[in-house]
Amino acid sequence: MNAQDAKQLVKQFDLITAHAQMSIGVLASGHVVALHLGARMPAGTDLAGVIQELGRASYLADTDGIHDLRLEQLPLVYPAFGTPDMRTPAINIRRANGSSVLDLRFQSAQWLTTKPLPDGLPALRAAARMQTLALTLADSKAGVTVTLVISADVAHDTFAQHVVIKNTGTTPLHLTRAMSWSWDLLNDQYDIITQSGAWGREMHTNRRALQPGEQGVNSKRGASGHGQDPFVALASAHTDWQQGQVLGASLVYSGDFSAKAAVDMHQNTRVQVGIAPFDFDWKLVPQNSFTTPEAVIAVTDGGLRELSHIYHRAYTDCLLPKYWAVKPRPVVINNWEATYFDFDREKLLALADHAAAIGVELFVLDDGWFGRRNDDRSSLGDWWPNEAKLGGSLDRLIAEINARGLQFGLWVEPEMVSPDSDLYRAHPDWIIADPDHTPQLARNQYVLDLGQRVVQDYLIKTLVGLLDAHHISYLKWDMNRNLTDVFSQALPASQQGECRHRYILGLYRVLAALTHAHPEVLLEGCAGGGGRFDAGMLAYAPQIWTSDDTDAIARLPIQRGTSLVYPPQAMSCHVSLAPNEQVHRITPLTTRTQVAQMGAFGYELDLGACTTAELAQLKADIAEYKRLRQVLQFGQLDWLVVHDPQNEYAWQKLSDTMLVIDHVNILAQPNTVLKRLRACALPPHTQWRSQASAQVYSAEYLMTIGVAIPQPQGDFVSSRWQFEQVT
Ligand code: DGJ
Repeated sequence: MNAQDAKQLVKQFDLITAHAQMSIGVLASGHVVALHLGARMPAGTDLAGVIQELGRASYLADTDGIHDLRLEQLPLVYPAFGTPDMRTPAINIRRANGSSVLDLRFQSAQWLTTKPLPDGLPALRAAARMQTLALTLADSKAGVTVTLVISADVAHDTFAQHVVIKNTGTTPLHLTRAMSWSWDLLNDQYDIITQSGAWGREMHTNRRALQPGEQGVNSKRGASGHGQDPFVALASAHTDWQQGQVLGASLVYSGDFSAKAAVDMHQNTRVQVGIAPFDFDWKLVPQNSFTTPEAVIAVTDGGLRELSHIYHRAYTDCLLPKYWAVKPRPVVINNWEATYFDFDREKLLALADHAAAIGVELFVLDDGWFGRRNDDRSSLGDWWPNEAKLGGSLDRLIAEINARGLQFGLWVEPEMVSPDSDLYRAHPDWIIADPDHTPQLARNQYVLDLGQRVVQDYLIKTLVGLLDAHHISYLKWDMNRNLTDVFSQALPASQQGECRHRYILGLYRVLAALTHAHPEVLLEGCAGGGGRFDAGMLAYAPQIWTSDDTDAIARLPIQRGTSLVYPPQAMSCHVSLAPNEQVHRITPLTTRTQVAQMGAFGYELDLGACTTAELAQLKADIAEYKRLRQVLQFGQLDWLVVHDPQNEYAWQKLSDTMLVIDHVNILAQPNTVLKRLRACALPPHTQWRSQASAQVYSAEYLMTIGVAIPQPQGDFVSSRWQFEQVT
């Protein structure tokens, strides 16, 4: 066989959505190649030329002794290590004889009638119109099969992939790298978009032109983390919010991840997302399989706006718990910033009285209600009410809150244990720590080894018991430290590299059991703010506390970044005190309110310290939010073009009948032009009545002339326009 023959396309699989296509080919050599990922092609388009027309690159190894069959030049679909492709592989193994060589070739393909879900892992639910391909590659000498389970969801325009890796040999092997998705693009003309930050400033969007070499984000913290989001996008240079080609890959996973693009010597780009290979080593005994998390891929030429809408629709319809996905979220008061640990029954009821009077719907009792916890130095793990502090039983407090017309919610941090707790004293071997070293503390707490079945069972029993025993409508699931000295006291030496992933599998098992037992309880995820705001958690927690930074101005880039991938109703956003407790900035109440109303809305401040005028304003704001709740929580979010992007943020929420436009001006500037904001995406020829003036505008007027922004009087001011469609 010569190289031309070896590169003949012998099979082509087209996965097709409403607007996109992913095409995979099999060559005569058995290699599986990436033919196309982008706009739909006319049915039956033969993509053989993509491979045949590739030029010849010099100084690359031949494959199978065939002169000029350059694997390193081919766009491969799930490349392995130990072949003449020396780019970063998607999979790495170590066999019993120490060899890492793995030569995967096409074995079989099967179109499935239903989408199989990855075992023990969250994933997009099957949708009505869907194609699923199970594509198996194999290396019989190494004793490995790799099945790519790829689904195309027609209506949601997404592709999802998880991978099942099986040891078909007779000796155990170790898996040291197992990406969820790997794709080669024959081009490097892209900007890479990732989301990064830190505690208090999560999800800031970064964009830069691809450079030769590897670039991207990852986490080694045991959680997706405040620092990086398990998501990467590649956009053409001219792509902006409104238009242009962009490809996104989002990982449905809450642990250590890698989301990267690598530009090789020949200006090709390999994009990969999956579990972080760092410290990952999974022992696979004969006949056992390992399943990767699911990656959700979207491609569009509709710019970042369409990319974000694709993710919002797919995650709302197919990922968020069904019970809550489109259920209106209650207006919350959380006592944390009002009292911190310093509360008693009287303080809580006083807060509840004020909250009920202004129209709040749910009262959340945050940290400090259990064990002997009056600061962060004790009692995590001892999840029984501190009746002395609560001035009676938890049930009595709940009844008193309910009697005020408020639902009751509670804070927990189940993955943690304080050294000063009965749980730790009883089970010191339940923590993640290396017994040869002093266990590391962070916020005075250890991490429970959720990889241990006994720990999972204890948590399921405790948490389900808590919800069974009390009338709790909402649970805030916090996680306030990362995994550091990673070692499981329950795993043998040969399996220590499984500890991090087993932790996440255990976490998902607990969350699945809890949400199965109590689907009606609104679960809010949290990890010191947005430290684990990811698609994995969203499968159980339909909303997540977006950041511990509640300052309205600091929240703008955080919420804009978060909303690039995750649906706005999943962002929990609260109004807090001014000066703000994190950045000490003083912002007007209207601005704090409008920014918080971008998501699931609530308050996090001492209402007792508010003036009568402020309370009256809060009451009016809540009434307005309730009137606009449907469009604010479930309307389509669009970021609008502003005059000065360094200084202004504007967004709109659009439903079938309502349009709400919000604008925040950061610093006032004198003597500027009259600035206008143009709406977008309104159906042509529709008419919209302004709530403020009753004047009716055409969609065309609002989208081309737009509304005039009042000259800002002072810093950090906001404006809002509301319209109702005239039928
Ligand atoms: C961190 C969370 O992000 C806060 O909202 C609060 O719940 C504290 N933990 C409580 O310890």
